[in-house]
Amino acid sequence: MNEPASLTEYGAAIDASSMVAPADTAEFELEPDHPGLGDAAYIARRQFLFDITRHHRLTRQPPPLIDYTADETKIWREISPQLDELHVKHASEIYLKAKRTLAITADEIPQLRTLGERVRRETNMHLVPAEGALPYRIFYESIAERGFPVTQFLRHGSHPEFTPEPDMIHDCLGHVPPLMNRDYAELLTLIGKAAATTPHGEHVLLLKRFSWFSIEFGLIEEHGDVKVFGAGILSSFGEIPHSLFGTSARRRPFVTDDVIRQDYDPSHMQTEFFIAPSFAFLRSELEQLVGRLGIFNSGADLSSATASVP
Ligand SMILES: [Fe+2]
Repeated sequence: MNEPASLTEYGAAIDASSMVAPADTAEFELEPDHPGLGDAAYIARRQFLFDITRHHRLTRQPPPLIDYTADETKIWREISPQLDELHVKHASEIYLKAKRTLAITADEIPQLRTLGERVRRETNMHLVPAEGALPYRIFYESIAERGFPVTQFLRHGSHPEFTPEPDMIHDCLGHVPPLMNRDYAELLTLIGKAAATTPHGEHVLLLKRFSWFSIEFGLIEEHGDVKVFGAGILSSFGEIPHSLFGTSARRRPFVTDDVIRQDYDPSHMQTEFFIAPSFAFLRSELEQLVGRLGIFNSGADLSSATASVP
């Protein structure tokens, strides 16, 4: 097996083995530049939500019902209508229809347990409570079992427009609605199964890029227009107009070989976007990629894919 010992991710060399054997974080900690640092009440609330959601995840329970505070509701009511205005103009039809079906409104923070039950009836996906951003492999293992991990905490009120980590607004307003679409659900599940199965770090990296430029930052053609379906775009005021009209953003057709060669930096506004013709197209492209990589063949060998992947 001739897998390289190191790979390039976010512009830096990483150990290939870290993609298949990531560390799990059992302790809650805010990142060094988090706006909530120094706010004891926010940190205590985050610790409580970390503990309860991690416990529910590890004991395979659905998302706990959360009694959201007045501060959390205020943040939701501030952000949600502004995003909704942009969604109506720029989100994909599939997203908008699902958001209505799920009855996600700007007034009250929805309970992810309730949304998860509705999603399960539609596409047999379900929501898994997550204490924060999960390591890739754990994240993909959950998706392989048709469980999408969702956080239940909200960003800090001092910077409602910004979150350095995926929070409940990102997950609920970005990721949950498309789970109501069958092609999207199958696409996601296959990414999860492939990434959770392969022993090769490089395969995980390629699948992660495929996912990043579709599930997180994907654009889609609809009736001759370009619309947004990526969760990272849909949960950000800035990324929605930037992805569609920004002069520093490059938009190109979704060509799988280009996508899996494209590195990205999650800490900045994105500069590369790919436009897919449909979810069915993405699903078919992913099936071909997984076949080329030989992930579900016994004795999968990375060299079988080197003719068309970096
Ligand atoms: Fe995300």
